[in-house]
Amino acid sequence: MKDLIDILRKTRNLKEEEFAALIRGMSDEDGQYLKENAFQVKQAFYGNKVFTRGLIEFTNYCKNDCYYCGIRKSNTNAVRYRLTFEDIMSCCEQGYELGFRTFVLQGGEDLRFTDEDIEKVCLSIKEKYPDCAITLSIGEKSYESYKRYKEAGADRYLLRHETADDEHYSLLHPGSLKLAERKQCLWNLKELGYQVGTGFMVGSPYQTPECIAKDLTFIKELEPAMVGIGPFLPHHDTPFKEFSKGSYELTLRLIAIIRLMIPNGLIPATTALGTIHPKGREEGISWGANVVMPNLSPVRVRKQYELYDNKICTGDEAAECRACLQRRMLTVGHEIVTAKGDFIPHTFETVEGKEDICTM
Ligand code: 5AD
Ligand code: FES
Repeated sequence: MKDLIDILRKTRNLKEEEFAALIRGMSDEDGQYLKENAFQVKQAFYGNKVFTRGLIEFTNYCKNDCYYCGIRKSNTNAVRYRLTFEDIMSCCEQGYELGFRTFVLQGGEDLRFTDEDIEKVCLSIKEKYPDCAITLSIGEKSYESYKRYKEAGADRYLLRHETADDEHYSLLHPGSLKLAERKQCLWNLKELGYQVGTGFMVGSPYQTPECIAKDLTFIKELEPAMVGIGPFLPHHDTPFKEFSKGSYELTLRLIAIIRLMIPNGLIPATTALGTIHPKGREEGISWGANVVMPNLSPVRVRKQYELYDNKICTGDEAAECRACLQRRMLTVGHEIVTAKGDFIPHTFETVEGKEDICTM
């Protein structure tokens, strides 16, 4: 498998069947080789600096019913909440003081928040903190809505595609949700000039190495600025409660593969990774991730944004998380920086007549 890893590093891509073969056939030794390569590439672009994003989970109401998700509409046990405009602004104020220069507004697909509401939040944040980036993560919307948010100041958008395999998509979601529509949203966001983030869960029910190979191929095609992946973790009030969690090791390997595919990409060590293993976020960095996204939501609602069981950091104040993450990053020789952390496009060198060779 080392030959495939070498090709991946050099050309930043593999054929779909090669991705599947790599995922199926990777030994521990290959894994270590992959990790070393991913770490070197990450170091070449970002050194030992880790970007941070302040996550504000502003509503857990959702009109969707994804089978894996703890805040799905049909979960009547979920205690629902919405933050007010003032709550959101006060999260930003606290976050700014702590050194955050990106605010991620994430929520379920909650129609009570109108486009005007989202615009108002974006305009207000930009007015008060012109040196900060705004990332939205509020699901599938029309082109027109995405355009309005962009014009109101949103810079980035996170929308995981969840799986790039049609059949697998239909096993994770009710029929009202379609992969083609999800993908179209991502293309629309790109066209509108957002820095776009996509991603998927590792080890979601019915996922095969072929599904993951399709995910990677789709990511290559989309060329996102950010890719978020984390292990699937069951939630006790969902149809998937009996399924096992995803593989920690495979998640780390996929972070490394994605780093080699997008050397300059922004790849978070996610909360799900920190939930599945106590050192998950640190290890994520060692395997090529370069972003952490601690929570800025008020502690009183933290536990309620429960996408999966045992989510970490639900009882900790934002300041505690920031300090904790700073310490954790230090244990792997990294430091959290106060910076917007925009995606910087990079033109890869042309070597021996071949295009797009990564020589980093
Ligand atoms: N386990 C892991 N990740 C999950 N997400 C939703 N539910 C779960 C779960 N049970 C992820 C999805 C979504 C993101 C916000 O959280 O990929 O896009
Ligand atoms: Fe939240 Fe450690 S990052 S408590």
